[in-house]
Order: sequence, then C-alpha cells, then structure tokens
Amino acid sequence: MDKLAIVGGVRLAGEIPVSGAKNAALPILCAALLTEEPLEVENVPHLRDVDTLLALLARMGVAIEREGPTVRLQAKRIVSPEAPYELVKTMRASILVLGPLVARCHEAVVSLPGGCAIGARPVDQHIKGLQALGATVRVEHGYIHATTPGLRGARLVPDLVTVTGTENLLMAACLAEGTTVIENAAREPEVSDLARCLVAMGADIDGIGTDTLRVRGVSRLHGARYRVMPDRIETGTYLCAAAITGGGIRLTRADPGSLEAVLAKLAEAGCRIETGPDWVVLQAPARLRAVDVRTAPYPGFPTDMQAQFMALDTVAEGSGVIRETIFENRFMHAVELQRLGADIRIDGNTAVVTGVARLDGAAVMATDLRASAGLVVAALKAEGETIIERIYHLDRGYERIEEKLGALGAQVRRIR
Ligand code: EPU
Repeated sequence: MDKLAIVGGVRLAGEIPVSGAKNAALPILCAALLTEEPLEVENVPHLRDVDTLLALLARMGVAIEREGPTVRLQAKRIVSPEAPYELVKTMRASILVLGPLVARCHEAVVSLPGGCAIGARPVDQHIKGLQALGATVRVEHGYIHATTPGLRGARLVPDLVTVTGTENLLMAACLAEGTTVIENAAREPEVSDLARCLVAMGADIDGIGTDTLRVRGVSRLHGARYRVMPDRIETGTYLCAAAITGGGIRLTRADPGSLEAVLAKLAEAGCRIETGPDWVVLQAPARLRAVDVRTAPYPGFPTDMQAQFMALDTVAEGSGVIRETIFENRFMHAVELQRLGADIRIDGNTAVVTGVARLDGAAVMATDLRASAGLVVAALKAEGETIIERIYHLDRGYERIEEKLGALGAQVRRIR
C-alpha cells in the first residue's frame, strides 16, 4: 500500500491551480442518469472516488468517454438500476444514484452505505424524503429497495441539514410531477453547483444557494455541457499547508467566494490573504496564532477543514478550541498528531490544542480523507521525516497531491 514520505521545514512558495471539486463532480456525474441525452462534464478531477463512481455508472449501462478533465456520459438506457455493496462500501457518495434512479427508472436497489470511520452516517433522511415524494421504500438485507408508480412533488423538511440528502432529493424532484419544496436544504456551494447543472439540463429550480429549494417537475431533462466548480476544500488544504510552513502561495482557478469562513480563520491566525475573482494569495506570518473553530453547515466553517486547522493549532502561539458538530467521531487525526508531539486534549466533540514549539517527524496512519490532509499539513512543519501510511484515503480526494506539493517546494515522495 502506498505511503507518503514528507520531510518538514521547507517554506512553501509558488503557484498551483485548484482542481475541480470532488463533492460537486460526484452528484453532477450522477445527474447523467436523469436523461437519455449526453451530459458533458468539464473540470472533473482525477480521483479514486470519481473512478469508483464512473465504474458504478458504467455497470448501470451509462456510456462513458473520458478525455483529460472532461467526461461525457450518456444514459440512453439504464440496464440495471442497482448499486452493489462492493462499490458502495468503498465510497458512501454512491448513495447519490438513488434519487436519479428512482426518478428515471421508477425503481432502485442501492446498498446501504453503513458506518464509516467518521461516524455512523445514516441515510434515513434520503429515504424519508423519497417516501414523501411517493416512493415505496424497504430496507432488506442491507439494501434499499425503492419503487414508485411515478414521483409526485411534495413539501420536504429534512430533520437536519444533509448535503448528499439534499442533492438526492433535488435530483429526484426534477422529474417528479408537480412542485417540490425542500426546506432546511443544505446551502453548500456543491449543492448549488449541482442545481445549476440541473438547470442547464432543463430543470426548473428556484432558491439556489438558499435553504429553500423550489422545484417544478418537468417530464424530461435534456443533455448539457457543464463545468464543475473549483474544489474549496482542496483550496483550503493548500492554504493551510502554506500557512503552517510560514510560506506564501498563490492558488489559481479557485473560487474564493466559496470559502469565506476558512479565509477569515486564516486571517485571524495571522495570514495575509488577497483574493481576486478566481485566485487566492496567502502570505503566512513567522508563527501562527491559535484559532478556535466550530464546524457548522455552510456558510459556517466546513467540517472537511477541521483536521487541517487542528494541525495549524498544534504549532501556533497559544491554544485553540475545536468543536466538531457535524460528525460524532471526526477526531481520529488527533492521536496521530500526538505522535508528532502535538498537545491535544479531547473531551467529547471538543479538542483543546495547545501550540508546541516543534513537531517531530514520525510514522502516522491516515484514517480518512480529511484526517490524512491534516497529517500532511502537520508533516510539512515537523522536523525530519514523517511517513504517512494508507494514503489511498488521500488519493480519494486530492488530485496529484505529491506533484502539487512538490511544485510548491515541499520535500515529498510517494513510496509504492
Ligand atoms: N445524517 C443523518 N441522516 C441522513 C443524512 C445525514 O443523520 O439521512 C447526518 C450525518 O450522519 C451527519 C450529518 O447528518 O452527522 C451531516 O451529514 P451530510 O449528510 O451532510 O454528509 P454527507 O452528505 O454524507 C457530505 C460530503 C462530506 C462532508 C459532509 C458535510 C459528499 C460526497 N460528501 O457528506 O465530505 O463532510 O457533506 O459537509 O458531498 C469528504 O469530502 O471528505 C467528506 C466526508
């Protein structure tokens, strides 16, 4: 299994482009199931999660052509509306085929995603919403079986803000008869990106970017060409990487408007930030100040940036309190950071991180995608070499990570 070796202590400097957003690309690729016409998706990142989803769509009969960052999909006929456990277990986002399949085929059999390292992560809200739209759903032997004579618009009020839940219901509602209102909808920029793609395909959606989405169902969607938004979490991760090393970098092809909470925290930590329409420049101070972070649904501070900020606090001046409110078990990186010498105390969903004068390289283990990103950030500061094991987690969400870090001057190599 691949490992990443990082020798810390180099100040990152230079310019790199941001890739297309994983969490926008995944639902947008699934939207291809909603039409028999071709959907051409641009700016799709090369990531393991994208490969997994394309393999799943291909099994369903979707014709797929890929040329660099452009993927052309055509779901002329769906041969099997099924998502088997083998694929769903490697990537929870496979649940995103559920809404489109029920809407288009009036049936779907999708494996329950089950728990994962960051928490139990049920999909009850996806199921409840589909039932309200007129699907009959039963869960049997670990599979969700959904059927419907045809979806009908309804007023949906999920009990909590769910990103993929909102996306699934939004896609289903596009082909439902009548109007659907999704209240308490997730406002994450990736949800809006999907909504804009659906509009390009002929969907009628109001309230994009707000917590109330109103969808007037149409009888069919058509093909379209759509460009996936830049990855705000990748952007934030490289900004943290530069910040911890006292460096200065410029990220291009970015969308600074989608990461205001993160940029504000970096400024609070002492970084100088400049932004333009599609770029971000960060200049870090010699030593960061510790910051408090409380994760929340968008536009709050993203849970997907929590581990990277915990890494920043480990070497900052003072101490920071980190509260994780989205997932119940998303502090696995803390024990690995402690292996590098970090001072972190955990109590339930709160971590108190007191900055230390130095971290020392060690062998650490990646446990999930963003935890791994936190370890990379810390390793860039640690004295000597850090070996990060199980980096297949990183490959799920960061395109060419060693190449991009290398371009900024980091001493990083992949051990195969
Ligand atoms: N939840 C339920 N029931 C549901 C759905 C969600 O209880 O039916 C709970 C979850 O267990 C969690 C909370 O609601 O405690 C929020 O979960 P949400 O559904 O919003 O998460 P998700 O849609 O499964 C997406 C991203 C995650 C990101 C979260 C939160 C994708 C493919 N995944 O997950 O990204 O952390 O939103 O912003 O969009 C990552 O990229 O590393 C990643 C984990």
